[in-house]
Amino acid sequence: MLLSAKLSVLLQLVGALAVPALQPYDSLAGLTRDEVDAFARSVKVVGGQPIPPPIKDTSLKLVVDKDHQWKPLRAGDQRGPCPGLNALASHGWLPRTGIVTPGEIVTAVQNGYNMEWKRAVLVTYAAFLVNGNHLTNLLSLGGMSWLTGHAPPPPALASGLNTHGTFEGDASLTRSDAFLGDNHSFNETLFQQLVDISNKVGGGKYNASAAAEVRFQRVQDSIARNPTFNFANPRFNTAFVEAVFPIVFFIDGRLRAAGETGLDLKVMRGFFEDHRMPKDFHRRGTVSSASDSELDFVQAAHDYIPGFNNGSARVVNNFVADPNFMGTQTELVCALYEKFVNSTVALYPNPHGELRKALNQNLDNFYVAAEAHCDQIKPYN
Ligand code: HEM
Repeated sequence: MLLSAKLSVLLQLVGALAVPALQPYDSLAGLTRDEVDAFARSVKVVGGQPIPPPIKDTSLKLVVDKDHQWKPLRAGDQRGPCPGLNALASHGWLPRTGIVTPGEIVTAVQNGYNMEWKRAVLVTYAAFLVNGNHLTNLLSLGGMSWLTGHAPPPPALASGLNTHGTFEGDASLTRSDAFLGDNHSFNETLFQQLVDISNKVGGGKYNASAAAEVRFQRVQDSIARNPTFNFANPRFNTAFVEAVFPIVFFIDGRLRAAGETGLDLKVMRGFFEDHRMPKDFHRRGTVSSASDSELDFVQAAHDYIPGFNNGSARVVNNFVADPNFMGTQTELVCALYEKFVNSTVALYPNPHGELRKALNQNLDNFYVAAEAHCDQIKPYN
């Protein structure tokens, strides 16, 4: 009798432990209304916030100053697939924990790299809508760790930028496709391929010619090895932009001003592997959205169509065009905008209360980056 009473207490305890413990930065997608309400009671609800304004001083500037020295990771710090954000966190321009607000990202990418404000808003809120926590206003630059606790139950997401298929996608320069392995950590084999190509066509640097060939090779590799390869919108857009980000933002502003167009490969490894900027890194002296000549060059260097490998057979070397493809650059921005709004609705089909309010604010924030070109979609009004 005593034994069965003890057993019952034990079973209750095990049951309690099996309830998924959410961290304040975990996504709430897929949770029931009751689960969202319970979560809201357990955290400080901050909700969606206005976007911080553009920074005023956009001059060439020292970024690695005495307050922004590189520090190694501590247990539990989150880093993920984005070398740009990882380095900002390891230099203290973003919280070193890697648990950040979208407003902090918008300001940090301007301060650290002189990224144009609207581009920063577009990328940040796209990612935050699908990977962030709208009640606490927090996002993990990585994902789950041993500190993160249990994953929320399916179909909820594990949270953070590591989450495959929302923002993070296939054919990355230095990260494996999720189907083939670790989609967020630095991959030495892939980096060596990039080095080989840069030595062959970039004169030993990662320049536009090297970016064009690495981009092409990574797509060919995914077509040949990943039966789930997805190169449709939004990945079709982000994959090209990310291939030129290192040239646009990681070349020291003083070298750029002197005409340098290629990124030193040791500097590149520092950013990509160690989240580390060079000792006295200066940001570029002009703002950029990375949608200039390098991007055109990389896109035009080979024939690309948005599409995927799976068809109906889900086999490799079976790349088919995305039937929903829209052609022009303006349409691409609107397609990207529409895609992320639709993904948000798929994750949060029927939000209530504070969650609905926060989603509306963050959707409005996201639209600011697209308003010059596209009609606003208001799914929750
Ligand atoms: C503004 C907010 C930003 C967000 C939310 C963001 C997020 C991401 C994510 C989720 C990825 C993974 C995509 C993938 O390869 O599957 C990524 C990749 C990348 N990001 Fe960012 N990023 C941001 C800004 C930046 C900035 C400012 C830079 C450069 C200074 C940058 C450089 C890169 C590069 C080079 C990659 C490609 C890595 C690779 O393919 O190996 N990002 N970013």
